[in-house]
Amino acid sequence: MRVKLRIKRFNPEKDEAPYWGEYEVEAEPTDRVLDALHYVKWYQDGTLTLRRSCAMGICGSDAMRINGVNRLACKSLLRDMGSTVTVEPILGLPVIKDLVVDMAPFFAQYRSVMPWLINEEAPPARERLQSIEEREVFDDTTKCILCAACTTSCPSFWAKGEYVGPAAIVQAHRFIFDSRDHGAGQRLEILNEPDGVWRCRTIFNCTNACPREIEITRAIGEVKKALLFSRI
Ligand code: SF4
Ligand code: F3S
Ligand code: FES
Repeated sequence: MRVKLRIKRFNPEKDEAPYWGEYEVEAEPTDRVLDALHYVKWYQDGTLTLRRSCAMGICGSDAMRINGVNRLACKSLLRDMGSTVTVEPILGLPVIKDLVVDMAPFFAQYRSVMPWLINEEAPPARERLQSIEEREVFDDTTKCILCAACTTSCPSFWAKGEYVGPAAIVQAHRFIFDSRDHGAGQRLEILNEPDGVWRCRTIFNCTNACPREIEITRAIGEVKKALLFSRI
């Protein structure tokens, strides 16, 4: 198939404003958007800048806005995208160049919820045991690959970049509901702040954007409930 790619280009060192670059690519329907972007970069315009690593949906580095929806370029088949594909950087983070955004604010929000196990007790000789049922409570939120597709598709985040965002709440959820962790109270206090979980207006864009199909809005709801009913 022949595909027209419209890619939002911007080099802050020489462009005054972003512009659309147009490229034609011959591809197989089963090729991914990432393959088409590689083709442009390798054979048509080496200045095109994008971020990717694993090329198989694991590292989370190639989240982009493709045909107006946040997706991973390496998981988006051209046959599902139509004959013209628009590709833009994810919204709400500063653009460094073309499709590459500055992820530092995103990772600062991630760190703010203390995404690590907090347990001051001396570790047992072998391991901290957990039942299957206890593990099940937070299984879904362990799947996050920190791609930022959720946070950068959230209108509450677009409106106020200080909102901690769904990705950080997913990470907090993963530890708040872990029976081995003792830091739930601290994390809930952080998420109870004005830019915490209450900025979520249950818009669901995050859930629709997640390439790992995490039920993000549900996880956010569970954190809100934990705050309201002190179930922790
Ligand atoms: Fe990406 Fe989903 Fe994690 Fe959000 S929750 S960062 S969309 S994997
Ligand atoms: Fe935003 Fe998702 Fe809530 S899109 S408003 S974080 S449900
Ligand atoms: Fe790693 Fe797409 S390149 S998730």
